[in-house]
Amino acid sequence: MDDLRAKFFTLISQASDEQSLEDLRVQAVGKKGEISLQMRELGKMTAEERQVAGPKLNALKDEINAALAAKKAALSDAALDERLRTEWLDVTLPARERRQGTVHPISQVTEEVTAIFADMGFAVAEGPQIESDWYNFDALNIPAEHPTRTEMDTFYMHREAGDNRPPHVLRTHTSPVQIRSMEKHGAPIRIIAPGRVYRADYDQTHTPMFHQLEGLAIDRDLSMANLKWCLEEFCRAFFEVEQVELRFRASHFPFTEPSAEVDLRCSWDGGRLKVGEGDDWMEILGSGMVHPKVLSAGGIDPEEWQGFAFGMGIDRLAMLKYGMPDLRAFFDSDLRWLKHYGFAALDCRHCRAD
Ligand code: PHE
Repeated sequence: MDDLRAKFFTLISQASDEQSLEDLRVQAVGKKGEISLQMRELGKMTAEERQVAGPKLNALKDEINAALAAKKAALSDAALDERLRTEWLDVTLPARERRQGTVHPISQVTEEVTAIFADMGFAVAEGPQIESDWYNFDALNIPAEHPTRTEMDTFYMHREAGDNRPPHVLRTHTSPVQIRSMEKHGAPIRIIAPGRVYRADYDQTHTPMFHQLEGLAIDRDLSMANLKWCLEEFCRAFFEVEQVELRFRASHFPFTEPSAEVDLRCSWDGGRLKVGEGDDWMEILGSGMVHPKVLSAGGIDPEEWQGFAFGMGIDRLAMLKYGMPDLRAFFDSDLRWLKHYGFAALDCRHCRAD
């Protein structure tokens, strides 16, 4: 028995993987293992001999099983250590230089714009791209006979003949998110809503799908002055210039009163846009004070609350800031274009506050 113990303890301590341990287990305590064979010998012994040898053999069997288990645990610890050593990863290393993918200018500009407004305390809101015509039009005080409702501009979802329920549309602007935010949170509100919108249009500066950024601020005493400050701050940060000059031009939107389109002073010297100087004006957005009927439609009392809203084209901002001449190329998925105009991951200049 002492020989058996010494032999198996040596073999177990030398085993280098789980398979050889298993082989040893079979060899020692398996059905036809050496210790099991010894146990069969017990039958041939006298009762006195058996009383001595039986417990000893059983103890040896337990000892060997315990040694096998201990060795197995040690082996798997060692395997884990080895795995941790080889799979160790330094997450502080810089990104690979030969990057494969790039961030699309639309994503980049959306991040930039969001970061700037987040700094001013605006939260991000969202709404569906397939919208009921109530949210897209009626609630925004857009009358039934308004020209944008015609099939010319608006994509209507298919309806079976005889289905007289109100139609759904691909939202034509992000303004329906104004109503959804009012319904969801009530006043006061300070949100922006970036997202996709759709209009039947296609030329150098129009694609049937494009991106807008809606802004909405509602409180007890907000005025056009607050709107103007916010937009000036935004333009300064976005175009990265000290001085900007905005021109508020009287306009009309059914959902704001008064309404203004906003132009930015700029120059186009040698085809390069310069913001803040020059004799040109570039229209960048629509805005105004939220119409009382729109507040009511969103469940907010216009006697108590007022606010401003604005809507701008994200794609257009991207074209201006990064000098891309044709909007259609944005959505062609041409790898050469994406490599040329795309951004490296984490290259977000305005994310200073994370
Ligand atoms: N929804 C308008 C558009 O798409 C923009 C806008 C938004 C104007 C909010 C005023 C206020 O042209």
